Amino acid sequence: MTGTKPRRRHILFLIVLLGVVVTVTLQIVSGLAMAFGFLSLYPFHVADGFAAATFLAGEWVWLLGTPAGRIAIARLFPITTAARRLVIEHLTDLEHGRIPEGLRFGLGALVEGLFLAFATVTVGVGLLLVTSSSSVIILLTLHRSLAFGLTVLWCLHTAFTVLERLPGRRSVNPSNEHCDSRHPGE
Ligand code: HEM
Repeated sequence: MTGTKPRRRHILFLIVLLGVVVTVTLQIVSGLAMAFGFLSLYPFHVADGFAAATFLAGEWVWLLGTPAGRIAIARLFPITTAARRLVIEHLTDLEHGRIPEGLRFGLGALVEGLFLAFATVTVGVGLLLVTSSSSVIILLTLHRSLAFGLTVLWCLHTAFTVLERLPGRRSVNPSNEHCDSRHPGE
């Protein structure tokens, strides 16, 4: 035991995270474009879909297989009472027109977690869609609905990231303010 905690992603997993962001964003854009009639994007959508599946698998390996990843999971999915309370506080702040403090530990984190979960399931259904010959209508309807949810989460995640970085704002966990504000697991 050295006593030093693994705090940062290995460069390989930073590339994996970048790959997830880029390929999933391109899937959202190409999927929406296809829905609006740009069907020539189909080969790109499938090829980028396989790339997105590979990067997402790598992201889950990092999340589940490394200590820093498991710390990140605890942030992304509010399993503790404190984390759930923070999400409710953030929703209340937004309801009253206030920008919540420490968004990336509460509501922002939950949106990130849901985004990851939706992206994983959408990609899974997409893979089933290209490989199966039956139930295509059901799978396509499911795939479209999940893609819609994912698009909403993408917009929320982008909006929260911008809000969190507005000048003069602190990115600290309000329920743990005395701790280092550089976040373990990222
Ligand atoms: C985050 C990931 C993804 C998103 C947001 C997404 C989004 C979409 C959307 C919105 C459509 C509907 C297009 C339409 O109405 O014509 C669609 C269709 C489709 N997607 Fe995806 N998709 C994703 C991942 C994948 C993956 C991983 C694959 C497979 C490798 C895939 C394969 C397909 C196929 C085969 C269709 C049907 C195209 C058609 O025949 O109309 N998708 N996708």
